Amino acid sequence: VKKITTHTLQKMKASGEKISMLTAYDFSFARIFDAAGIDVILVGDSASNVMAGHETTVPITMEQMIYHAQSVVRGINRCLVVVDLPFGTYQGNSGNALANAIRVMKETGGHSIKLEGGEEVVDSIRTIVQAGIPVMGHLGLTPQSIYKFGTYSVRAKEEEEAAKLKRDALLLQEAGCFGVVLEKIPAALAKEVTESLHIPTIGIGAGPHCDGQVLVMHDMLGINNEFNPRFLRKYANLHQVITAGVQQYIADVRSKDFPNETEQY
Ligand code: KIV
Ligand code: NA
Repeated sequence: VKKITTHTLQKMKASGEKISMLTAYDFSFARIFDAAGIDVILVGDSASNVMAGHETTVPITMEQMIYHAQSVVRGINRCLVVVDLPFGTYQGNSGNALANAIRVMKETGGHSIKLEGGEEVVDSIRTIVQAGIPVMGHLGLTPQSIYKFGTYSVRAKEEEEAAKLKRDALLLQEAGCFGVVLEKIPAALAKEVTESLHIPTIGIGAGPHCDGQVLVMHDMLGINNEFNPRFLRKYANLHQVITAGVQQYIADVRSKDFPNETEQY
């Protein structure tokens, strides 16, 4: 198989071929997504929410992200794997950021890392890129800063914040990022940013003009049925499928229907 690299994504942007990206956190789902043909798997720190049940992405640790990334990497053989650096592992100290990025690369077999923010983290990005590690940026709604924003509402609707986002996008490109996630910003702004960059933009709640799209697997597969933002399209209702399967199993055990003659030794 022809493996997807950061260069593949670059060429896809140049030729107008859209990039598909989904999160995954374990071996079994990563294997299905890779075999289905996904271009990029993000081992997102959204694992903090959907795997660990935390309210925010703030508490997830390096060790936990490494465990998820190792599991995902064992399941893939074609897609590009991007691993989120968790909160507190790259802000404020680029030497520390590099040490953590190196740990992810050495211990997981992932192909690249992602971190959140613009100008504030550009030194960390430069240092990591200089070490030969591909970095994806993340602008707009950056969930690790939730306690600064206060809400998960749409970002950069006002001119000042939009202007900073446009500057940050160019800074990330200059610092050597191979792509940038744009989360929950107006479609018109995402279009402008996408056209201003030669590296691909991957949108989530950022409209149709981005070079690719990303969704959290639990949201798009309907595992999590309490999260229904406007930008989310649901491609399955696994909550319903799983509930029905589990309820049928419970009923079959109770009624002694399971196991039957053929399901025993
Ligand atoms: O952690 C995550 O799932 C993400 C995506 C929403 C882009 O960063
Ligand atoms: Na993330």
